[in-house]
Amino acid sequence: MNYLDNAATSYPKPPEVIAAMTSFLTVVGVGTGRGSHRQGLAANRIVYQARERITELFHLPDSSRVIFTHSCTESLNLAVTGLLRPGDHVITSTMEHNSLVRPLHRLSLSGVTVTKVAGDRDGFLNPRDVAAALRPETRLIALSHCSNVTGVIQPVAEIGALARSRGILFLLDGAQSAGYLPLDVMELSVDLLAAPGHKGLLGPQGTGFLYIAPGLELEPLLVGGTGGASSDPDQPTSSPERYESGTPNTPGIAGLSAGVGILLQRGVREIRRHEQRLTVTLLVGLQTIPGVTVHGPTDPRQRVGVISFTLAGRDPSQVGFILDQEFQIVVRVGLHCAPDAHRTIGTYPDGTIRVSPGYATMKADVDAFLDALRSIAGR
Ligand code: ALA
Repeated sequence: MNYLDNAATSYPKPPEVIAAMTSFLTVVGVGTGRGSHRQGLAANRIVYQARERITELFHLPDSSRVIFTHSCTESLNLAVTGLLRPGDHVITSTMEHNSLVRPLHRLSLSGVTVTKVAGDRDGFLNPRDVAAALRPETRLIALSHCSNVTGVIQPVAEIGALARSRGILFLLDGAQSAGYLPLDVMELSVDLLAAPGHKGLLGPQGTGFLYIAPGLELEPLLVGGTGGASSDPDQPTSSPERYESGTPNTPGIAGLSAGVGILLQRGVREIRRHEQRLTVTLLVGLQTIPGVTVHGPTDPRQRVGVISFTLAGRDPSQVGFILDQEFQIVVRVGLHCAPDAHRTIGTYPDGTIRVSPGYATMKADVDAFLDALRSIAGR
């Protein structure tokens, strides 16, 4: 099998991730913060190390502000519903995933005003358009770092600086950048960073986190048992307990910690170089196949390895089916849970064929994909 759908979930997972989860389930087994016995302390140490590694990777000021969630979607929900109130205004874009679009839509039904700044045909946002959308009541700018449809890297440093200069909070959705691009929350003026554990961070599904800047307090999504201050009926105010009710996915966090450990060891810059080489091979190869239109920037410096294309006269889902059934090549087709993004680049409602190499992809995998597509296009 030739797996080229890393934008959805990275696969295969590194052996270290699988070993960390197996070891956790075999040797430790218990939830974190749920006992002062030796097993509980061992679980605490593993979760603490995971927070510390994430803190190092993203240059966060304080590991207690890393909140473990079950997905980037949960992180985004916590950020926007925990922060925004009726009367607030939020600026977002037409390039967002439904994980942000839907929670903002729901908030818009209860008095939050949402402005969507439009991307261009490649999906790029212009910081001037963001500036033009500002209002006195703007509380938040919420954007994805990289599109899960065109791979475009947004000018988030400029937008973050704009937000900071106006005293507006900046929420970054790192679903397609965390683990793929060097990401420093201080340099980008990010107040809230949402990321999945199961994509570029190489962890398992069912993991993710939200970084909340020190001093910023949100309403939690869930309230309940936090492992401490049990006699108080109110949710604790301290972080991360305030936001982590219920026994966490500790085996998943153990795997995520191992994934982040690999990134720290190998270096995100090196992973970016690997992915860029594969992206160049894909972009150059796709251009030689008759009928192919690549959507998104052609300059590999302006994008991550999430490459969408269409094949003239072919339904993307048909092409995806043939790639899977005949060539054992796994890609993702359709709207990618981002209908606004497809409207923006002109590929709605059929969507695109999306190919996304990852950490474990080799050049031979990309070459085999290009050969298969050439064969399909020639029929
Ligand atoms: N958000 C993931 C994707 O784009 C699942 O495929």
